[in-house]
Amino acid sequence: MTKDLMHSAELKDLVREAYSSVVSDGDATATRLYAEDELAGVPRSAREFALGVGNHLRYADIQLGETILDIGCGAGIDSIIAAHRTGPAGRVLALDFLPEMLERTASAAAEAGLDNVETIEGDMEAIPLPDDSVDHIISNGVINLSPRKTRTLAECTRVLRPGGRFCVSDFTIDEEDLPPEVLTHPAAWAG
Ligand SMILES: C[S@@+](CC[C@H](N)C(=O)[O-])C[C@H]1O[C@@H](n2cnc3c(N)ncnc32)[C@H](O)[C@@H]1O
Repeated sequence: MTKDLMHSAELKDLVREAYSSVVSDGDATATRLYAEDELAGVPRSAREFALGVGNHLRYADIQLGETILDIGCGAGIDSIIAAHRTGPAGRVLALDFLPEMLERTASAAAEAGLDNVETIEGDMEAIPLPDDSVDHIISNGVINLSPRKTRTLAECTRVLRPGGRFCVSDFTIDEEDLPPEVLTHPAAWAG
């Protein structure tokens, strides 16, 4: 994390390119990660573009009325599950830097009859939200894609209210375990 093996802007372009051309795997990822009762009320379009790596929502203590931030919402599967849990008095701020992903989330939320999912275009390293404005941060398979993870985590700390919660699924590796040619390989980073 402390080494700058590739330029940040170049890495973000690689990630944008990878996720703007991502293809659906049917609902293979969704059914591997989530139970049928968790998927109830999640439109097929969101299930078919589930790109997460785990199921942190099983551990996230989401309360009625809370404001949730979903970092890197993708096609919206976690945002929709979270919006069901907050109820109409709460809201989910679905952040992604790709407009096409935000369109998928907005359309899936509309199909699910939810009007408490708000899409936000932005970068996780500069979250366009005020300080102390969020009760709970969720994220699935996204923070590993940040070239500046320390900055992303600092942004999470800034936008979370005091006592707010952070519950994510992600990959970690020890840099020492991988050679530089793998650490700097575009497909390895974006994938
Ligand atoms: C692996 S997908 C996960 C999507 C979603 N969380 C899910 O579980 O299906 C990664 C998502 O993060 C978004 N993303 C990657 N880098 C980002 C950044 N710097 N800021 C905001 N979103 C980013 C991508 O556009 C993509 O939608």
